[in-house]
Order: sequence, then structure tokens, then C-alpha cells
Amino acid sequence: MAKVAIMGYGTVGSGVYDIIKNNADRLSRNANGEEIELKHILDIRDFDDHPEKELFTKEFNDILNDGEVSVVAEVMGGLHPAYEFTKSLLEAGKSVVTSNKELVATYGTELLEIARGKNVNYLFEASVGGGIPIIRPMHQCLTANNILKIAGILNGTTNYILNQMIKNGKPFETALKDAQNKGFAERNPAADIEGHDACRKIAILASLASGKMVDYNDIDTEGITAVTLDDVKYADEMDAVVKLIGYAEFDKDGKVYSIVSPMVIKKDSPLSGVDGVMNAIMVTGDCVGDVMFYGAGAGKLPTASAVVADIVDAVKHSERSKKIFWEKPSENIMADRDSKKFSYFVRTTDSAENVQKIFGKCEFVDNIVDNESAFVTSPLTRSEAEEKLEKLSDVVTNIRVMA
Ligand code: HSE
Repeated sequence: MAKVAIMGYGTVGSGVYDIIKNNADRLSRNANGEEIELKHILDIRDFDDHPEKELFTKEFNDILNDGEVSVVAEVMGGLHPAYEFTKSLLEAGKSVVTSNKELVATYGTELLEIARGKNVNYLFEASVGGGIPIIRPMHQCLTANNILKIAGILNGTTNYILNQMIKNGKPFETALKDAQNKGFAERNPAADIEGHDACRKIAILASLASGKMVDYNDIDTEGITAVTLDDVKYADEMDAVVKLIGYAEFDKDGKVYSIVSPMVIKKDSPLSGVDGVMNAIMVTGDCVGDVMFYGAGAGKLPTASAVVADIVDAVKHSERSKKIFWEKPSENIMADRDSKKFSYFVRTTDSAENVQKIFGKCEFVDNIVDNESAFVTSPLTRSEAEEKLEKLSDVVTNIRVMA
């Protein structure tokens, strides 16, 4: 019998509870016959009407000091006290599984090191892509490859919002409210719409791919707050859509170029058809070529599905650490922001004649809004783009175009 605990009884925590209760037989079968028993649920709120209210505690030490508990699911989110709790649990020789991308992106290097030292597991399948298997496939199934590129729709909330704008013409604020009501958004939705959530997720994937910690503070991050209904209409005119993309490219010298930004994506790309709260991650390996992972990127049961899979894995491997690992680099591994060129979709009230003088060869898009020029530039570095955009009388929009 393996005894486990849940820390945080929010959307994901209650999903973990439901799955442990509803799929008990299956979980036990998959954990080499070990029954999985839930012993504690930590939450600061009262759950007096809960059918198993005796499981609830407000005392972290009830879990830490319980020698029977071997695996803990940290689904409370945020950095503190999740970091302190996780560190204490790993140091006490308990495995921890988590959906907390902020914690993994910030303290993952240290927590993985502690887990390795204690021969326990720190697993985080649910931290990227919700229910999509991506961490384990990258670590195991793609292990023969040098990863060349990762491009993903990594945030369900922003994808849901953009999709509502594109498909139903809904304004941004209404679409965001819908996403919050459906339980997809972060407690502070600024983390979603400003791109920080996607940034932490691409940092985790890039760290996994390169074996060196990619610090999310070093990733240029732009959210979707500046994307308008007119922008998505223009994209449609170009047979394309606008998506928030987390992107990382790896060169043979170990340098990583990474960015989070809205991008115009042609409708013939598989990423363009990823709708609603779905996520998709395209990984390019030097042996396998392109592989795409697709599924529900947020929500109660999809995310809990990945957390519970990690619980089962931790129970199965209670005697050994799984060696998912990256280390702190001794030197800067981030590539210069000008090492990558993008074309840009630009809208300005400046004349087409001026646009051509400044940008040279570019592709004009038929006007949707009167008295403006809309065009796609040739590929430019960020500095080249900034220099040219500065020369326009104004810039209504500039969005990268995914090659
Ligand atoms: N707020 C996140 C999203 C939840 O919308 O993708 C899943 O990480």
C-alpha cells in the first residue's frame, strides 16, 4: 500500500482526488499491484461538507512528519510556500509530483538535484501542456535525438481567447472572462495574457532539451494584450491565424534562442488548427524529424491525469530516482536576440510609398481598415525590424510571422 498526500485542493487538486477515488483499481494495476491510498489533503480552507473531511489538514507538518506518506502531489501553485514545502519533503526522502510550472521553471534545477541526492523523484509532467504527455516523451522516447527546435501553443487560456476572437468575433475581455469561468486561467490571469505562463513552460522544455537550465528571465516575452480583432481579421485575409507561440531553437554549440510571442501562422501549419483550450507542441529532433504532441492544455481532469500518472510512476520507482535532470550552465547559453530572423506583419497609417522606401521588398495585404497600409516584411533581425519600424510615422501592429 502506497500512501500519498495532496497539497492544494483547487481545480487540479480536486481532480487528483477524483481520479484516485474513481480509478483506484486501474491505478493499483499500473503501480505493480500497489494500492494507492490518499492519507492527507493540505489546504488552508475548510471543507466541512466534503465526504472525506477527515483527510483535510491545515498543517504541512502532518504530511512532512508522516513516515507512511511516500509521495506528495504539490498542486497548490505559486512559489511560496510551495518551494519550501517541496524542498522539505524531498529532503525527508519523499517523492513529489507537481503541476507547478512556476516552481519547476524557477527552482527546478535545485529541487531535481535534491531529489537525485535523496534517490527519490521530483516529477512534473503536468507542468507543461496539462494532460499532454510531453516531459516523459522528450526525456525518454526522444532521447536519441539532438533537439533542434520546439514550437508550441503552451497556454490554453490565451489560445481560447484568440480562438473566440477569430471564430466568434468576441472581444478580448469577454473571452478572458469565459476562460476564467471555465477554470483555465491562472489566479492572476496577467500570467496568461502577458505570456509569462507560456514563458515558464518553454523554459522547462528548453532546459529539458538542452540539459542546461534555461532561465525564463532571459526569454523575450510578449503576450496577446495588444492583439486586436482587426489583427485576426487581417490574418484571416492572409489565410493565417494569430497564436501565442513559445519557441526555442538549439544550435550545435549549445546556444539556445528562445522567445514567447504572438505569431501569424499560415493555415497549412498543423499548429494553426489547434483550437480552444487545446495545446500543441511541435518538437524537431535530428533523427526523428518533426513530432507533434496535442491535447487538453488546461482544466481539472486533463491536468490531474498527468499528476496522477506521475504519482503512479513515483510509486513504481520508489527505490530509484528517474534521472530527469538539467544543470546550471557555467556560462551564458542564450543566443543573441538578433541571431534569428522573422518576417513581421505590420499595420501603419503611413503611405505604401513610405513603407516601400523603408522596408524595400514587402508583401502588401488588402486593407480591412481604411487609410492604413498592412504588409509583411522580408525576414529581419529584431534590431533591423526596430530600426525600420521607428522610421514609420506610426505602428498600429507588428506581429512576427512564423516561417
Ligand atoms: N493557465 C494555464 C493555461 C493553465 O491556460 O494554460 C495550465 O497550465
